[in-house]
Amino acid sequence: MALAAVILAAGKGTRMNSRLPKVLHPVAGRPMLRFVLEAVAKAGADRVIVVAGYGAPAVAAAVAGLAEVVIQEEQLGTAHALLQAEKSLEGFAGEVMVLPGDTPLFRGETLRAFYAAHQREGAAATVLTARFADPAGYGRVIRDATGKVLRIVEHCDATEEELAVNEVNTGFYFFKPVIFSVLKRISPTNVQREYYLPDAIRLLREEGLPVAAWEAPDPEEFFGVNDRRQLAVAERIVRQRVLAALMDGGVTVLDPAVTYVDPGVVVGPDTVIYPFTFLEGETTVGMEARLGPWAKITDSRLGNGVAVQSAVVNGAVIGDGAAIGPFTYLRPGTVVGPGAKVGGFVEVKKSVIGEGSKVPHLSYIGDTEIGRNVNVGAGTITCNYDGRQKWPTVIEDEAFVGSNTNLVAPVRVGKGAYIGAGSTITKDVPPEALGVARSRQVNIPHWAKKRVRE
Ligand code: UD1
Ligand code: CA
Repeated sequence: MALAAVILAAGKGTRMNSRLPKVLHPVAGRPMLRFVLEAVAKAGADRVIVVAGYGAPAVAAAVAGLAEVVIQEEQLGTAHALLQAEKSLEGFAGEVMVLPGDTPLFRGETLRAFYAAHQREGAAATVLTARFADPAGYGRVIRDATGKVLRIVEHCDATEEELAVNEVNTGFYFFKPVIFSVLKRISPTNVQREYYLPDAIRLLREEGLPVAAWEAPDPEEFFGVNDRRQLAVAERIVRQRVLAALMDGGVTVLDPAVTYVDPGVVVGPDTVIYPFTFLEGETTVGMEARLGPWAKITDSRLGNGVAVQSAVVNGAVIGDGAAIGPFTYLRPGTVVGPGAKVGGFVEVKKSVIGEGSKVPHLSYIGDTEIGRNVNVGAGTITCNYDGRQKWPTVIEDEAFVGSNTNLVAPVRVGKGAYIGAGSTITKDVPPEALGVARSRQVNIPHWAKKRVRE
């Protein structure tokens, strides 16, 4: 049986107080709508349609390649939103799954179970319900004495008695294509003057068509995000899920309450994550690494046994056993070789630090290629920018760069060469040579005494 999913994502999300459409607000680094699309893909939909409206170009860009987009010019309510998909689904004879774009926590497997329930019931509509300890804000599911679903009433239209019901509408439904004719009969006679999709349940029943309900086994999955407080709750839940999976895989997380790992980040077993560590984007970490405290690692690849402490690492590759930090900034294009060290107050950009090499203190290394077992003294700066363009520096294997050296690029320090501390190097230094570029020291005897007499 063919399955089409329609994701309602046209609303502004007024309660977010934001210029960004609500469904594009990130949860754990990714737009809410992406979570929804991923779970829907897992449920095995043949067609996925996103109804966009407020901020439609941005929404369309976010789902490009993953879903068809239809536009709801004016956001007149959820029923009106679904109606916008009618044309796209002309001639479609399968089941139509409808779900909101602001509910990022549900799992694809749960949708599959819901779909199976709908097929078992053979109903014209099946609504997914959940029991919440605090149902405030959600539509309430009103059943008759025999337990059959009669209708759904929105929070703001509900009576005291209806408000006491704690079974809510999750906003997830399965419909037969007959739904589109029913939608046209929904009227906006309610407090919000909107066309409510949940009204379809009552209308279908009144027509004598079978309507079913399926209760979510884990209500937390159907937590909707309507404001920033709820966004923070969703963020925390996603984060705890990610950390739970990492811990199950053998990663030690000292304090999950203050550890932030994006979904999709891979961390090897026996790695220890100390508090205030952020692992973001496309990041992978090997086994037995030590991350944090205080590390922000984005889109980077870390090998086994890497140690990173108090550092910002973005777009870097770090080899096995390398040590980074404390107080280190690795920028995109940085490659740190196995066993290398990049220490305190060092910034590295688009550079290779070869195997076993050390840049331990107070340096800027940019557009540089450093070979193996090089020692870069404290305070060394690669002067890679002449005000117009960037130039490369090369430091070959086993070279020794004295402290407080300026390397004015383009420049090359040969294999095994030495550079005297405090030099400003503007010419290549041949292999094994000593390069010194500073004025000689002059000592004036008895100068201090003479100065006092003057
Ligand atoms: C809706 C349901 C409520 C349910 C809750 C579950 C209605 C009327 N109410 O309420 O019963 O308990 O979800 O989370 O459906 N949207 C459009 N076009 C519109 C209006 C909304 O595309 O004209 C989209 C929104 O972008 C959002 C979704 O539909 O993704 C739900 O809209 P929202 O305003 O958040 O509805 P709720 O008040 O949460
Ligand atoms: Ca909502």
